[in-house]
Amino acid sequence: MTESPESYENDAHETAPRDVYTHGHHESVLRSHTWRTVTNSAAYLVPHLEAGLSILDIGCGPGTITVDLARRVAPGRVVGVDASAEIVAKAAALAKDEGVHNAEFLLGDAYALDFPDASFDIVHAHQVLQHVANPVSAMREAHRVLKPGGIFAARDVDYGGVRWYPLTTGLTEWLAVYRDVHYWNGGNPDAGPALKAWARLAGFTDITCSASIWCFASDAEREWWGESWAVRATESAFAASAIESGVADLVDLQDIAQAWRDWVRDPDGWLGMPHGEIIARKEH
Ligand SMILES: C[S@@+](CC[C@H](N)C(=O)[O-])C[C@H]1O[C@@H](n2cnc3c(N)ncnc32)[C@H](O)[C@@H]1O
Repeated sequence: MTESPESYENDAHETAPRDVYTHGHHESVLRSHTWRTVTNSAAYLVPHLEAGLSILDIGCGPGTITVDLARRVAPGRVVGVDASAEIVAKAAALAKDEGVHNAEFLLGDAYALDFPDASFDIVHAHQVLQHVANPVSAMREAHRVLKPGGIFAARDVDYGGVRWYPLTTGLTEWLAVYRDVHYWNGGNPDAGPALKAWARLAGFTDITCSASIWCFASDAEREWWGESWAVRATESAFAASAIESGVADLVDLQDIAQAWRDWVRDPDGWLGMPHGEIIARKEH
């Protein structure tokens, strides 16, 4: 499937047949999300973090990055919003457990943020824009709630660039099925390279781009990542979407789960996931 940035010009949010978060919040998914920190997922933002800054974290998920951001800008106000009430409650519990008092979590929609114009110094979105049907509309909303001179920071994967070893047909099938399901749900698995174009369409003119890679290779990393995907392949919202869309059947998904378990067991196993990143500054 190909697309042009112009395909996001219209408010497709109003008309998109689906706008569904592919992964859902099954335990197998959360296992891979709660590993995330500012260091491994938002290092490009670190030079812009200062005590006292206010941050809105859109699509905050379980909140591990949000809580980490809150520690780094304390006593600045940090707000995480997510479309899932269940995950907002988990994120709030994390902040409480960690004794982080300057982070709060609210139910919220990236397309219609419940904040006045010019509310935040930084708006952050990690692995979110790939999952919404109209990322440009979400970016325009981020632009609205930013203070003049504030920054929008986004990072998304480029599934088209994911590489692994050994090059098994089972994992090739995983990627093909995953990509089709992600598109079927209204998202874009190749969001990372498109972030700059989307930000320009959303009205940002001062945009700095970077890229970084997640790499999973050690025994512990393969066990954690591959076993998470082995379960996700048959039990998560991704599995339900794969079957509902007709992209795969249960046998296909069981084969994919087995391919991940084979990869976990292979001491030569390696996987790299590239990500695009942008720092887009709102005009003064
Ligand atoms: C891949 S998770 C990323 C979570 C977190 N940012 C992280 O990296 O750990 C994407 C999150 O975006 C949320 N999401 C999807 N569409 C949304 C929308 N329109 N508004 C707010 N949150 C949304 C999902 O519920 C999910 O928690």
